[in-house]
Amino acid sequence: MRTPLIAGNWKMNGLSADAMALADAVVERAAGLDGIETVMCPPFVHLPMVGDRLKEGVRLGAQNCADAEQGARTGEIAADMLADLGVSYVILGHSERRQFYGEDDAAIAARYAQALKARLRPILCVGETLEERDAGRTQAVVAEQINGVVDRLESAAGLGGGVIAYEPVWAIGTGRTATAEQAQGVHAFIREILAERQPALADEMRLLYGGSMKPANAADLLAQPDVDGGLIGGASLDAEDFVAICAAAA
Ligand code: G3H
Repeated sequence: MRTPLIAGNWKMNGLSADAMALADAVVERAAGLDGIETVMCPPFVHLPMVGDRLKEGVRLGAQNCADAEQGARTGEIAADMLADLGVSYVILGHSERRQFYGEDDAAIAARYAQALKARLRPILCVGETLEERDAGRTQAVVAEQINGVVDRLESAAGLGGGVIAYEPVWAIGTGRTATAEQAQGVHAFIREILAERQPALADEMRLLYGGSMKPANAADLLAQPDVDGGLIGGASLDAEDFVAICAAAA
């Protein structure tokens, strides 16, 4: 039995007052929801103030962590520093990190390993571009991204307590969502890859869908057998929309 997980990725949006108001509004609205995990991932600088506002049932997530434990990494934030602030989850390998900051599978694996060491739960993002989908390479790309991280992790437990988010790049922030069938197809494929590599984990690992998920399409996507939740961008900036998606998962 996999507990549904809905994570809001606020990306680089809002100032302090916006972060506090959004956190308060989500916490208040999410109060009655049972049977799901809800996570808010504000920008680094807003983590402490959002953390102060959390109540039971809503967790704190970060949008990245460093590839080393401490020291000479100007501009980076260590996994331990996040754990120290009460962060539970960390998004890794988001397509925006891959595209704008050149993070490759090796860099993402190093960050993943640091997150596990600090007992954070990584949310590993994978997904194909439109060109890759049109070229029939969706499965190959997703497999490369997952194996590219798992192959580099030393621990026998591999992906550990992590979560995988399938985010087709063409659906992120575009208003164009994968159909429920497209999402289910890729999620089922991801579970097959996991079953080959780590049979014990395949059944219990949660697979999230991300890419223009909103209240109008959430129920359909979340009804798929291998879709265990969502990684929400734009809609997570509106408390009413975000909690409506959480309610669809509960
Ligand atoms: O991390 C979240 C994803 O990039 C999805 O963003 O819901 O705005 O398409 P979106």
